Amino acid sequence: MACTEHGHGSVLLGLVLLSLAASQSCCYGLSTFGFDIHHRFSDQIKGMLGIDDVPQKGTPQYYAVMAHRDRVFRGRRLAGADHHSPLTFAAGNDTHQIASSGFLHFANVSVGTPPLWFLVALDTGSDLFWLPCDCISCVHGGLRTRTGKILKFNTYDLDKSSTSNEVSCNNSTFCRQRQQCPSAGSTCRYQVDYLSNDTSSRGFVVEDVLHLITDDDQTKDADTRIAFGCGQVQTGVFLNGAAPNGLFGLGMDNISVPSILAREGLISNSFSMCFGSDSAGRITFGDTGSPDQRKTPFNVRKLHPTYNITITKIIVEDSVADLEFHAIFDSGTSFTYINDPAYTRIGEMYNSKVKAKRHSSQSPDSNIPFDYCYDISISQTIEVPFLNLTMKGGDDYYVMDPIIQVSSEEEGDLLCLGIQKSDSVNIIGQNFMTGYKIVFDRDNMNLGWKETNCEYISPLLNHI
Ligand SMILES: *[C@@H]1O[C@H](CO)[C@@H](O)[C@H](O)[C@H]1NC(C)=O
Ligand SMILES: *[C@@H]1O[C@H](CO)[C@@H](O)[C@H](O)[C@H]1NC(C)=O
Ligand SMILES: *[C@@H]1O[C@H](CO)[C@@H](O)[C@H](O)[C@H]1NC(C)=O
Ligand SMILES: *[C@@H]1O[C@H](CO)[C@@H](O)[C@H](O)[C@H]1NC(C)=O
Ligand SMILES: *[C@@H]1O[C@H](CO)[C@@H](O)[C@H](O)[C@H]1NC(C)=O
Ligand SMILES: *[C@@H]1O[C@H](CO)[C@@H](O)[C@H](O)[C@H]1NC(C)=O
Ligand SMILES: *[C@@H]1O[C@H](CO)[C@@H](O)[C@H](O)[C@H]1NC(C)=O
Ligand SMILES: *[C@@H]1O[C@H](CO)[C@@H](O)[C@H](O)[C@H]1NC(C)=O
Repeated sequence: MACTEHGHGSVLLGLVLLSLAASQSCCYGLSTFGFDIHHRFSDQIKGMLGIDDVPQKGTPQYYAVMAHRDRVFRGRRLAGADHHSPLTFAAGNDTHQIASSGFLHFANVSVGTPPLWFLVALDTGSDLFWLPCDCISCVHGGLRTRTGKILKFNTYDLDKSSTSNEVSCNNSTFCRQRQQCPSAGSTCRYQVDYLSNDTSSRGFVVEDVLHLITDDDQTKDADTRIAFGCGQVQTGVFLNGAAPNGLFGLGMDNISVPSILAREGLISNSFSMCFGSDSAGRITFGDTGSPDQRKTPFNVRKLHPTYNITITKIIVEDSVADLEFHAIFDSGTSFTYINDPAYTRIGEMYNSKVKAKRHSSQSPDSNIPFDYCYDISISQTIEVPFLNLTMKGGDDYYVMDPIIQVSSEEEGDLLCLGIQKSDSVNIIGQNFMTGYKIVFDRDNMNLGWKETNCEYISPLLNHI
């Protein structure tokens, strides 16, 4: 089945892709839903205010900016249920991508009394939830909608919430730096450094109400007190759009919100994120998925646990390579990053199956961050090779959308394999999760996935 690749907003290239093994690769979701609210949401949000100008989506400059931001995948820690209903955020279970913030999914969370909303980036690669608060260095921006309406970002203020509390420095659950406490009752300071150069958040740990509702009937309040960072100073990519209104760490460590909810016995120790093909998604706490999902065990380690899985084989069309390596499932990273030798092996396997001319960069300062790119002319049809990752345990992970479209004035229109060479950790990023509901089952310590159409109509966003 041939279909037109859908882009976001202004970057519809008009390229026609034909995917071999799976027509879903380009049409997943679109064929069953003509239109949905997320499209409208993404359509109506023109951009973020208060952040540096982001190059137009689809250009090499755009991908370079996104790749640069991508290093925000891994917090280095604070320096130095069972049969309950699944829960979700009070403003709804839907998540969104916003063009100027790349591939990350954002959710509208509300915190405090009276509740204030924050549009936070969802990050399975780090643990702490922090909000701009008591600001010394924060983004004071907002969102501009198509209708010209401006939704200004909120800043959390301890004094303005009647349910707020400072976590004291001797708190053994939420304060990691107890050795450094000037006194037992003093504030618990935190600093998280992320892998991006000079990217960090610091401030102190507070506690307040996170407004949640039951996911199945969306009516019952399930407000919960949680600990989070009052982020006074943000640096690096946080200041230019990666997480302008807070970061929601979904990691395995004790301080993350899923850990807090499970520890309180409010949900099963699991959550799911669904990544639609249409910049829409969903998040549900306590969701353990379904019996028919595919799965693979996490590689568990006591210190700094992550959503770390093992890939044992790569399948590209009819070629199979036994290649064992570990990778982290990280929703906070736009692209997929793999180390050599696996990186080159996968790239070359892929390259040998693409029936199009490999792009050779004309300009030495080309900033296309991908190595395996192919020249394509408008309305040309190329077959996108089929890519499966075989996971430990034997289940296959079919990559629905391995390709990134790049449109460059100097270098023309390109299709690129959406993997970059890593020089550290291997990461399965957001682009490889498209089309799946991913289940982070921390109870059974495995990752589940199932092809899912995440789109639905959410009445909650109609007012935008
Ligand atoms: C977030 O949800 C609240 C209602 O809970 C709404 O007033 C606000 O406009 C929403 N913000 C965004 C960016 O959707
Ligand atoms: C730590 O802080 C949390 C949140 O304020 C509180 O519920 C808990 O009782 C505290 N624990 C200790 C040991 O102080
Ligand atoms: C922590 O310090 C506060 C203030 O000094 C004290 O009231 C509280 O009992 C201490 N908690 C623990 C768990 O030591
Ligand atoms: C980060 O900084 C190091 C050394 O300062 C530099 O070599 C590297 O290129 C930088 N990385 C990025 C992504 O900017
Ligand atoms: C998390 O908390 C549990 C129980 O409180 C403890 O056994 C475990 O070591 C903690 N894990 C980390 C990574 O701090
Ligand atoms: C992932 O798990 C493997 C196997 O246990 C381990 O060697 C590797 O260090 C882990 N990587 C990360 C980033 O946690
Ligand atoms: C690729 O993975 C999918 C599951 O995601 C599976 O149904 C299919 O059989 C696999 N194909 C090959 C050739 O391994
Ligand atoms: C998410 O919310 C919608 C309604 O807003 C509801 O129909 C759906 O069941 C919820 N949960 C999931 C997992 O989609």
